[in-house]
Amino acid sequence: MKNFKIANIPGDGIGKEVVPAAANVLKAIAAIHGGLRFEFTEFPWSCEYYMEHGKMMPEDGLEIIKDYNAIFLGAVGNIELVPDHISLWGLLIKFRREFEQVINYRPAKVLPGVKSKIVNPKDFDLIVVRENSEGEYSEVGGRIFRGEDEIAIQNSIFSRRGTERVMRFAFELAAKRKKHVTSATKSNGIFHSMPFWDEVFKDVSRDYSTIETDSQHIDALAAFFVTNPERFDVIVASNLFGDVLSDLGAAIMGSVGVAPAANINVNGKYPSMFEPVHGSAPDIIGKNIANPIGQIWTAKLMLDHFGEEELGSLLLDVIENTTNKGILTPDIGGKHTTSEVTEEIIEGLKARF
Ligand code: NAI
Ligand code: MG
Repeated sequence: MKNFKIANIPGDGIGKEVVPAAANVLKAIAAIHGGLRFEFTEFPWSCEYYMEHGKMMPEDGLEIIKDYNAIFLGAVGNIELVPDHISLWGLLIKFRREFEQVINYRPAKVLPGVKSKIVNPKDFDLIVVRENSEGEYSEVGGRIFRGEDEIAIQNSIFSRRGTERVMRFAFELAAKRKKHVTSATKSNGIFHSMPFWDEVFKDVSRDYSTIETDSQHIDALAAFFVTNPERFDVIVASNLFGDVLSDLGAAIMGSVGVAPAANINVNGKYPSMFEPVHGSAPDIIGKNIANPIGQIWTAKLMLDHFGEEELGSLLLDVIENTTNKGILTPDIGGKHTTSEVTEEIIEGLKARF
């Protein structure tokens, strides 16, 4: 019996609705599969926790969850209680940093039965792999002088180690998909870091002879996302480019409520974290209309990470059958509730075993 210890952190708002829904889906998978078990421990770390304790999690929070196999997070944020920079930095950004989750990846695909704003929804099926620890989001730089003479300098950090690491991750993912990697570059405009990025991409690609590669400047690439999405399979990008592309991907999917994400620790020292792209959605709390698919698809990424890729594919297949049947929450044009979509997915899984 395989046993996976999962730290559930529903967080705030609809996180408290979609995390239990996705946990129920995983429990159903375990029950019908028979050969594996998910051991969930729930942590109440959130803005409400902050109101009681003056912090988002206990002082030894990282220590408490560092030996779990994964962190399954909902969403963090309740500006009526805690300013966003305190809640986000006090919890999820802490995990990303301290647990060396150096890669972020987000699959984006227009699910059947979901209206998208792009021309050919069926062509849109890709993964953005984003460097999550360095690049443009560095603290190196500074400001000098005030007034008219004021100067701000912001340095980007691109290490060979970090760059290679994210690229290898992208190639490994592509090997299990359509075997194509696009590098998001801007070496025609950014003088040092992007030519370096291109060189490393060339070097790394030599180790993956069966995978086709392409290099696109980020501006054109963003346009192709909308006009020619069939060009893409896996896209590897720096921290900033990846941030922008992955939000664009989520928008094209039709609703942020269906978009999944993973923050991956690659050195095996700490758990990876799985969280959907959306936030706590304060406008729809308590109405049972939050789309659970973002969180459930995120559970699929967690299954893949555990090496249970067959189960992961099955789960995505069942999600797609559900949307295709028109069992949709209001954000993607339907009338169904969170519970109905979740129940349909669970029934769909039972039917497939
Ligand atoms: P949001 O993603 O919470 O909501 C944006 C819009 O999308 C809202 O209209 C919401 O109702 C809708 N939406 C989001 N998820 C949905 C779902 N599953 N089903 C149906 N509709 C959904 O972003 P917003 O409003 O900018 O932020 C709200 C709070 O969440 C803030 O405190 C923010 O800091 C936090 N946040 C946290 C994130 C995280 O934990 N990773 C990511 C984004 C925002
Ligand atoms: Mg973003």
